[in-house]
Amino acid sequence: MKNSIVLLFITSLWLVFSQCGKDGIDIESNYYAEEDYALLSQYLNIPNVPANYQIKFPDYYGPGRGPSFNTDLATLGKVLFYDVNLSKDRSVSCASCHKQELAFSDDVAFSKGIENRETTRNSLALGSVFSFNEYYGPSSSIRIPFFWDNRAESAMEQAAQTLKNENEMGMDMPTVVERVKDAPYYVPLIQKAFGKTDISAYEILNAISEFTNTIGSVNSRYDQALDVLYAEKGFSFQNHLSNSLDLLTTKENLGKNIYLSNCASCHNNINGAPNVLSANNGLDLVYTDKGIGAISTTNNIGMFKVPTLRNIELTAPYMHDGRFATLEEVVEHYSTGIQDHPNLSQELKTYSEENSQYEPIKFNFTDSEKANLIAFLRTFTDEEFLNKEVYSDPFK
Ligand code: HEC
Ligand code: HEC
Repeated sequence: MKNSIVLLFITSLWLVFSQCGKDGIDIESNYYAEEDYALLSQYLNIPNVPANYQIKFPDYYGPGRGPSFNTDLATLGKVLFYDVNLSKDRSVSCASCHKQELAFSDDVAFSKGIENRETTRNSLALGSVFSFNEYYGPSSSIRIPFFWDNRAESAMEQAAQTLKNENEMGMDMPTVVERVKDAPYYVPLIQKAFGKTDISAYEILNAISEFTNTIGSVNSRYDQALDVLYAEKGFSFQNHLSNSLDLLTTKENLGKNIYLSNCASCHNNINGAPNVLSANNGLDLVYTDKGIGAISTTNNIGMFKVPTLRNIELTAPYMHDGRFATLEEVVEHYSTGIQDHPNLSQELKTYSEENSQYEPIKFNFTDSEKANLIAFLRTFTDEEFLNKEVYSDPFK
């Protein structure tokens, strides 16, 4: 008797739960019409629910901040980002050189483009692109341009240049439009994003840039540690310098102070715009790649974008030409290797009384300082970002 009551109870529980499950699926499964979803599912792993591209910034950015995005436009953009049909010989997509597990960078100095060609610079990691448009983009007074030589003003312009680049995707825009129209899976996605079946070159670039703008890393251990500081004491540079962060180890905290004193003058905290948009960090006396100097009329030889250091542990090799394979090599460069290039930035120079002139800084970090600095740089890694499904490859 007792047993059958228990059994009855379990059975009714099961009924209740399975019903819920069913209801859950029914409620959510109508985002795409049935036949559209069947078509999409032949090619893509796209959940039949609206994708959530919302980003909540850590509190220390200022409470309640975070951009929102057009879900349908970003979803279309994500499929375009991962689609090899957007390259001339259908061999590479944006994601070939911007891999999610590597914080949307690549693990070789120069990436493979179409027809086995190579890029002329190291692929840039994409983890902080979101902040450009929302907070530093065209509507703001600070603008962070794109590429190592800052030559593109917006994510849209960047995408247009990359698609056309002979070493990367080798396309022209009419062919891009044709390829998109040829692929059946775009029909429902375009319908959702634009309420029509046709799509223009502008709309394709708009969708790609909407997706790249969603790619935001906001939850590294360092972000979490700064949130604790923010909750307890507020957030300011001074506060940050004079307090150790509860969530970080002693070594990491020591590294933080080295970073704030010697590196943040250019790279800033990882939470926003670099302090200077471009700089010369003394890699060479003579630059084969002249950087901004190659495209500007003033003397900017050897000047390059100051890149974000978010997820830096994962974005090796380093620098515009991928010359350094490890963070140890990078730190050694700053410690003893800075070259006296005429454009070397002031932040990396020091006045020598002996020679009565400015000379490249030699930080001469001790072994433990180097190890602490690197331990700190590793707190910029954001595991959630690396695994977030809204950014992942949708193709089956
Ligand atoms: C063949 C490899 C390759 C492909 C394919 C590729 N990229 Fe890139 N990407 C790079 C390289 C290399 C750079 C740096 C180039 C430079 O600065 O001159 C870069 C830079 C960028 C930047 C600038 C980031 C910054 O912080 O300035 C963005 C954004 C970007 N790519 C997005 C995309 C998108 C979107 C696509 C697809 C339309 C794409 N990439 C396709 C290799 C590639
Ligand atoms: C004068 C400004 C400046 C200072 C100060 C500075 N950097 Fe840099 N950093 C740059 C520039 C510019 C680049 C890109 C240079 C290039 O590729 O030609 C760079 C590149 C890097 C990279 C490679 C990033 C990538 O994605 O490849 C790392 C890592 C780095 N810096 C760490 C540091 C550390 C650690 C310190 C302090 C010891 C520091 N930087 C100080 C300007 C600066």
